Amino acid sequence: MATVSLKSIKKLYPNTEGKKKKKGEEPEKKHNLQITDEGVLAVQDFNLEIADKEFVVLVGPSGCGKSTTLRMIAGLEEISGGELYIDGKLMNDVAPKDRDIAMVFQNYALYPHMTVYENMAFSLKLKKTPKEEIDRKVKEAAQILDITEYLDRKPKALSGGQRQRVAIGRAIVRDPKVFLMDEPLSNLDAKLRNQMRAEIIKLRSRIDTTFIYVTHDQTEAMTLGDRIVIMKDGVIQQVGTPQEVFNHPANAFVAGFIGMPQMNFYDAELVREADGKYAVNLENAHVVLSDEKQANLKAHDVAPQSITLGVRPEHIMLAGSGTQMIHGVVDVSEMMGSAVHLHLRACGRDTIIIVQTMDLQGENNVDFGIGQPIEFTFGGNVAHVFSKETGRNLEF
Ligand SMILES: Nc1ncnc2c1ncn2[C@@H]1O[C@H](COP(=O)(O)OP(=O)(O)O)[C@@H](O)[C@H]1O
Ligand SMILES: [Mg+2]
Repeated sequence: MATVSLKSIKKLYPNTEGKKKKKGEEPEKKHNLQITDEGVLAVQDFNLEIADKEFVVLVGPSGCGKSTTLRMIAGLEEISGGELYIDGKLMNDVAPKDRDIAMVFQNYALYPHMTVYENMAFSLKLKKTPKEEIDRKVKEAAQILDITEYLDRKPKALSGGQRQRVAIGRAIVRDPKVFLMDEPLSNLDAKLRNQMRAEIIKLRSRIDTTFIYVTHDQTEAMTLGDRIVIMKDGVIQQVGTPQEVFNHPANAFVAGFIGMPQMNFYDAELVREADGKYAVNLENAHVVLSDEKQANLKAHDVAPQSITLGVRPEHIMLAGSGTQMIHGVVDVSEMMGSAVHLHLRACGRDTIIIVQTMDLQGENNVDFGIGQPIEFTFGGNVAHVFSKETGRNLEF
């Protein structure tokens, strides 16, 4: 049983970048973090209420503050401001070992001279847990993770995936209130990563605890999270279920980060028709927005304006009415089996369209050659309208 509550959490690191600067040289900028007199704001105004047994994923590009946030929850990093509560108890100044949490890292950090069994038993031994209880817990965890047959092996005799299971097992035996994982699958190859992702979903159903999981991989975030927290430059961009953030991205950054291949973006116009209805104009296309979008834009009294228009590759249609089509030219066509990913040049931008091969059968079966002209359009329910200046979703 554990809820985790983060209230206006912030992390200030000392600003060391300026000092390295030689005379007359611009300091190399590695990030867009806010810099104050006190230092670099690696995390700011982080607010999140995590429910008991919830699986929350922090996701964002490298350097956005994910690990820092997790390490502050673990107690491995001092909290510069704000409050952290676990089960309603203030944790800011509680030692890591007294927080009742367990953390699994990207590099498994197993003790090389100990067997798998000893690695898993180690923390319990330190706590002077009775031998029989240690034995029961280690064997139970080994069974959950399917590593019983390796209990006598040393880590070097295990594959990467098996080592990661041991690292997870070592955390499970402690019955933590909160399970923290920092990019636990990043060191595994693609196939193993998919397999372990499924394992973590199973694991989650077997051990009833709260999970906070960090990754830079949007697929991992989407498949694992009950809710996902998208971060950029130390600031939360959006919190929501995978469906919410996919269907209703709060801004152009989230829209581009979530979804694969990436959402297409265009310079377009948001206009109002004579009857007051909102529509978007892109080249020849004039697309009236869906009722839901009409209502959202109306509620915020959004004025007609130049916008950044976003349309996902899976939502673009090759078929449509003749006169209102957008023109593109094929750059590359990637055959993926069940679909073709068409890369086009259109409206001065790169566009990706996913075409289901099932839709191409019979006389419509098209071989997309480089340089081939293509016409496409999109529906008023899948057009995302973002402010050109701020990137904010104008429906919000
Ligand atoms: N000990 C530290 N001292 C100074 N800056 C740090 C330290 N640790 C991390 N940072 C900076 O804080 C930012 C966030 O880092 P981190 O939380 O590791 O990001 P992520 O895990 O999302 O990749 C980065 O810009 C990083 O360079
Ligand atoms: Mg990290």
